[in-house]
Amino acid sequence: MSLKTIEWKDNSVIMIDQTKLPNSLEFVTYTDYNQIADAIKTLVVRGAPAIGVSGAFGLALAVLQCDTKDKDELITYLENAKKILFQTRPTAVNLTWGLEKIMRVAKNAGTVDEIRKSVIDAAKLMANEDIQINKSMGKNGSELFNDNDTIMTHCNAGALATVAYGTALGVIRATKESGKNIKVIATETRPVQQGSRLTAFELKHDGIDVSLIPDTAVGYTMANGLVDGVIVGADRILQTGHVFNKIGTYQVATMAKQHNIPFYVAAPLSTFDLKSNPEDVIIEQRKASEVTGIGDTKTAPDGIDVINPAFDMTPPKLISGIITENGIAKPPYNESIKKLFEAKK
Ligand code: MRU
Repeated sequence: MSLKTIEWKDNSVIMIDQTKLPNSLEFVTYTDYNQIADAIKTLVVRGAPAIGVSGAFGLALAVLQCDTKDKDELITYLENAKKILFQTRPTAVNLTWGLEKIMRVAKNAGTVDEIRKSVIDAAKLMANEDIQINKSMGKNGSELFNDNDTIMTHCNAGALATVAYGTALGVIRATKESGKNIKVIATETRPVQQGSRLTAFELKHDGIDVSLIPDTAVGYTMANGLVDGVIVGADRILQTGHVFNKIGTYQVATMAKQHNIPFYVAAPLSTFDLKSNPEDVIIEQRKASEVTGIGDTKTAPDGIDVINPAFDMTPPKLISGIITENGIAKPPYNESIKKLFEAKK
């Protein structure tokens, strides 16, 4: 079994503290939704599906924190908790998806006790379904790769970015489980190194062959025939097939196109935002210190101006296919994505 990133146990939320990886595998326990909001903000938990489920568990803690007997008061308390959780990170649409799903459950329940029970049950179900969805996605995507392929991935779209198993790394796991021999190249993914700290850690933990490269070696490895395919996750996918993912994804996709290497995205339907246009999506800008140092070591002069966007947008023309739990969307995406959602109904 791959690592379990988030879990509900004895009315509390247990998470792997991803800021401590790869040096130590530590777990934190939260009983207050404000702690969950903080954990999302500070990257204790990160990755689009994982923060969607964290938001849901945040609301599950909130129903327990509010000891009122009045239904309207409980809903108002939950609305406020939702607002605080929502403000943590703006780009991954799974957070909104998870929070709204739980709020609908709360509003549809009858009594205060029923709200408490149904919100907790729904959040637990969301976490369990995340694993099943990743497994279906993995199975769908495993057909795209051949025996002895080397697959490049960027950032961490693995067990650590979900409840377990992963999206892009879920496809890699399923490909391996199908009996194919697979090697992985993980980019380091500056500035906070989700590739070296998390992807390299979890693949090594599970015994999957992985080599780490600096972000600057993407062109070299592709030009020298070391990469057969690329697979990444996503924070938000639009109806048009525009994909928002970790900063640098656009560069990797452009380089893959240049070398005729297929570039795939793996994401659950909860990562799709069928309403927004590319210009509507807020790209999270993060603090300068992530760029001016590595860990506690300073690597840039004091006072330097920094541009530090956490995500970028990859246009559909660079994407060979989008793997979901309902099948694989291929260009033209407007039509194929619509079909995936129709298949869901
Ligand atoms: O800033 P992060 O670590 O939350 O960014 C994560 C990514 O960009 C992942 O690739 C994305 O969320 C997909 S996770 C299955």
